[in-house]
Amino acid sequence: MEDKLKRNTLFNPSGDVDLRLRRMIGGNTTNLNDFNNMKYSWVSDWYRQAMNNFWIPEEINLSQDFKDYPRLDKAERTAYDKILSFLVFLDSLQSNNLPTVSEYITANEVNLCLHIQAFQECIHSQSYSYMLDTICSPEERNDILYQWKTDEHLLNRNKFIGDCYNEFHEKRDKFSLMKTLIANFILEGIYFYSGFMFFYNLSRNGKMSGSAQEIRYINRDENTHLWLFRSIILELKKEEPDMFTEEKVKIYEDMMREGVRQEIAWGQYVIGNEVQGLNSQMVSDYIRYLGNLRWSGLGFGFLYPDNQKEPENMQWVGQYSNANMVKTDFFEARSTAYAKSTALIDDL
Ligand SMILES: [Fe+2]
Ligand SMILES: [Fe+2]
Repeated sequence: MEDKLKRNTLFNPSGDVDLRLRRMIGGNTTNLNDFNNMKYSWVSDWYRQAMNNFWIPEEINLSQDFKDYPRLDKAERTAYDKILSFLVFLDSLQSNNLPTVSEYITANEVNLCLHIQAFQECIHSQSYSYMLDTICSPEERNDILYQWKTDEHLLNRNKFIGDCYNEFHEKRDKFSLMKTLIANFILEGIYFYSGFMFFYNLSRNGKMSGSAQEIRYINRDENTHLWLFRSIILELKKEEPDMFTEEKVKIYEDMMREGVRQEIAWGQYVIGNEVQGLNSQMVSDYIRYLGNLRWSGLGFGFLYPDNQKEPENMQWVGQYSNANMVKTDFFEARSTAYAKSTALIDDL
């Protein structure tokens, strides 16, 4: 196959040093972690932001959540469990797929970012385990952790992205890499959001505030992951126009629409009209708005003409998810949790 990608050579003294020869894919990298000479200048800002975002799940106090969890309404509790199960699975999939992507990225500064992202995805999975360990019994915890296999809706949801990632693992060509990058973008920019908004909604109703705080840290990381993948895709648009023929872009657009469709269906299944403060219409309007935001962020315009603006009744989501815009509250909450930092050593 002519567009089969060549895996990076690990020890490669004959790799290119000249920045002008560096490419996102198809180049010849030495693999040197050279922080002084970067072709993709946005990496410096990205790296600094990712470092600044470092956090430890156990620094967030979940003692109120321990009391709140048994008192949640049945619908809230079912949604909490299923959403958590979904998120644990997605973060695991991410941390396992990213190293495969970086085997074919020939700009080492970008690989640095992908490795940091993989590390953060592991922290996300661990934060969910910490939440489950705190609020429920080991039996309940294990049941929730594996609902992604036993709940038919959940399994189907994971299949779309899972199959796409699997295709890349098998084919390792340019087109399947691009589909994996788009799937990644859908996952981090659309899929997580029904879950995130559910936790934020609980918190604004005075429930599970520690869980929402965990999610805010995760969400802050996810924002940088989106930034990374958007940048990679935009660079590839410039460097590899054959990956963006009209026919191929149509396939990426269909993937994006399918991702939005599935996220709305999932939101209706797991949240529906049963959770105080949310309803199906709010969920679908918000997810379509996100679809527009993501697709236009790649320079392709809007998918849903009626959903170009953030729905007014969902503006509270942004107050939670844009953590860097509300630094004061965010870091005040963090500093109180530092009081128990000695306990961390035992926990880890
Ligand atoms: Fe994550
Ligand atoms: Fe992520």
